Amino acid sequence: MLGSHARAGRTGARGGGAELSSPSDLEEVVGRDHVLTDPDLVASYVVDWTGRYVGSSAAVVRPGSVPEVAAVVEVCARDGVGLTLQGGNTSLSGGSVPLSGEIVLSLTRLDSLGDVDTVAGQVTAGCGVRVGVVQRAAAAAGWAYGVDLGSRDSCTVGGTVSTNAGGLHMVRYGDTRAQVLGLEAVLGDGSVVSHLGGLWKDNTGYNFGSLLCGAEGTLGVVTAARLRLVPPAPERAVALLAFESAVLAVEAAASLRRWVGVLEAVEFFLQSGLSLVCSTFALPAPFASEFPAYLLVEAASSSDPTDELAEAVDSLAGVADVALASSSSRRADLWRYRESHTEAINSVGVPHKLDVSVPLQRLAELVERAPAVVAAFAGSGEDVRTWLFGHAADGSVHVNVTGVDPADETVDDAVFELVAELGGSVSAEHGIGAAKRRWLQLNRSPSEIAAMRAVKRALDPAGILNPNVLL
Ligand code: MLT
Ligand code: ZN
Repeated sequence: MLGSHARAGRTGARGGGAELSSPSDLEEVVGRDHVLTDPDLVASYVVDWTGRYVGSSAAVVRPGSVPEVAAVVEVCARDGVGLTLQGGNTSLSGGSVPLSGEIVLSLTRLDSLGDVDTVAGQVTAGCGVRVGVVQRAAAAAGWAYGVDLGSRDSCTVGGTVSTNAGGLHMVRYGDTRAQVLGLEAVLGDGSVVSHLGGLWKDNTGYNFGSLLCGAEGTLGVVTAARLRLVPPAPERAVALLAFESAVLAVEAAASLRRWVGVLEAVEFFLQSGLSLVCSTFALPAPFASEFPAYLLVEAASSSDPTDELAEAVDSLAGVADVALASSSSRRADLWRYRESHTEAINSVGVPHKLDVSVPLQRLAELVERAPAVVAAFAGSGEDVRTWLFGHAADGSVHVNVTGVDPADETVDDAVFELVAELGGSVSAEHGIGAAKRRWLQLNRSPSEIAAMRAVKRALDPAGILNPNVLL
């Protein structure tokens, strides 16, 4: 039987400390095998991927259907017990772990994927389907899914919808919200809203897909999404460009956007990150010399885009060296320099991950000033390092800082103040989560936050859904 010490998060409408009046109710809903209480089994659900956020929970509940999700939510709403929603547990903002002892609602069993509608170019995916599975199913049906990210084989549709994930192809296809044509969700009172018909034109009132996408699980449990697919672009070319300065690299990223027809990714990193990746994964250096900054550019089309990419590169100012790849293995080699950043940085220490964005014309300033701001505020720690990488064409750069105590937020404060000064966002793509709630007011006015709270109260009256997140 489930222990009786499951506690609600602190923002639960009835306050923290609530307990399930009848803990075995959850076992009755999902079956005994799907309520995990053994601390060894619970352990992996309460720590985030970076290791920065560690929570605790009396139980992990694993529903296998929408009615089961609804019944779990109803039980918890009745008793005012907080739920932390979890898909692949790949959140990088502390959003997927139970930081106030909530029950973990693990959604990976809702992993059914419908047939691809090859006429409309759409598919309905359960929230537990991994993004990589959607990509492969779309490809097999002659389409493609417009969202791609390094965690593609771990992260889920529900998680990426709830956080409105951006990722590597945003410059071409937009964020996850731009792919969501319909949504099914369980609201905070256990009611189910479902609008999965996939009509492209459908102005029949509030768009729950747009609202819940990016709501970080605070308004409802996304259980399925109707996703738009995009035409496949099987012919690809990748260029790794070396620059004499970071400013030249981000300026080049901005001008490449004019070439957006076949431009699929424009990723930025510095020599420090490249060296770390090469030493961590024993990779050869891409060039004979080292350069301050790099762009990894991918073009994709129905016909070979290599010449077009090469021409565009020729027109850029400040390119010091180029490695161009058309074959898939060589392209993958070049991508490793960028995609391995996250793991390499985590191997240095628990990072502060600040996924910020600024208007494109201020990106060079951010890249120039962020390391100095970190150095000034990060105390005297000799091991403090700043790692800059990310999606330069979207105006977003990940400022990762290692060597700072995970609990010390002065460095976060300093970087976010700089970002706000530049007119940017404290969360470009990872979400506010638990990590950035303090800084929401840098981007959102008191009336906007009050409106968000009103929506939250309406859709989650007991305040049980992700109570540590966003608000
Ligand atoms: C990325 O761009 O690689 C992801 O957002 C993950 C990260 O920030 O480490
Ligand atoms: Zn990113």
